[in-house]
Amino acid sequence: MRILVTGGAGYIGSAVVHMLAASGDDVLVLDNLTQGHRSAVPSNVPFFEADLADALTVEEIIAERRPDAILHFASNTLVGESMDQPFRYLFDNVTNGLNLIRSATKYGVKRFVLSSTANLFGEASADPITESMPIFPGSPYGESKFILERTLHWMDKIYGMRYGILRYFNACGASSPELGEDHHPETHLIPLVLQVALEQRDQIVIFGDDYDTLDGTCVRDYIHISDLATAHLLVLQALKGGSRVYNLGNGQGFSVKQVIELARKVTGHSIPAVIGDRRPGDPDILVASSNKIRRDLGWQPRYPDLEQIIESAWQWHSRHPNGYSD
Ligand code: UFG
Repeated sequence: MRILVTGGAGYIGSAVVHMLAASGDDVLVLDNLTQGHRSAVPSNVPFFEADLADALTVEEIIAERRPDAILHFASNTLVGESMDQPFRYLFDNVTNGLNLIRSATKYGVKRFVLSSTANLFGEASADPITESMPIFPGSPYGESKFILERTLHWMDKIYGMRYGILRYFNACGASSPELGEDHHPETHLIPLVLQVALEQRDQIVIFGDDYDTLDGTCVRDYIHISDLATAHLLVLQALKGGSRVYNLGNGQGFSVKQVIELARKVTGHSIPAVIGDRRPGDPDILVASSNKIRRDLGWQPRYPDLEQIIESAWQWHSRHPNGYSD
């Protein structure tokens, strides 16, 4: 199968690209390199440095290469930022996604996988979140993904383009000590905590300790990047049986304080932490029920243990303290 991966030089996209290339698929990467890294893409994978906002170029690539499937990772992905700069999400994420989907339908692409988010469930309950729970996006970021989800629904009905929607909970860890997370600026909890352990930062600021959770800090479901990646390969194959939507997490919640405590254990560093203000857009608890993808596709996390996940991230960060520029 020929697969076009947008955002294939990014953290999650590149992990999937490596897996697809290793399993013998014909992979192409499109990335504007604003967040991605050229060296995160295997050198034998054709690479197009292009921006999805440039609809003409995107269409030319699809017209010329005729992919059988598209995996769409390229996106702005920060909950907090989307509360500050909503149009990066409600405009850029949406129009870029629509440019891509429109070209995909025009050139007969029959399989499309969208990276979606747990932030669709902004008013979640303490119970693990199933696919059928009501959707109330927690931020413009979540809303932008929901608009694309709904677009795909209609593309299936009208053009027969089968879609897979994967709603990620908190992606983390490194798929190898040579392939990991490197955002500029970094805003995610685990890499920030590990930067404190590397003494690149003095402390970690906990965004609020007055949430309705066991210790007052937000609870999230942290899933290893390789487990996320595996799900994409399974879903791509399964699309011949029809479109599908899955929540993807480990099914276990950890508070911010618990994550920091585990990172102290893994790194042996005291990792000073202080309490700061809440970050707008953060729900109290987000924990996935991934029973549906387990049942339908036999997906199972190989790295369910958060300590092991943080260890994998620590290996990457300690070997590459400056990320891909090392
Ligand atoms: N946090 C802190 N201090 C920090 C950074 C984060 O306390 O310096 C807290 C956040 O408030 C949140 C938790 O740590 O409660 C995790 O935050 P991240 O920034 O690591 O991740 P998010 O939960 O905000 O978002 C991530 C992805 C989104 C995805 C979401 C799904 O960035 O794209 O997980 O839950 F939608």
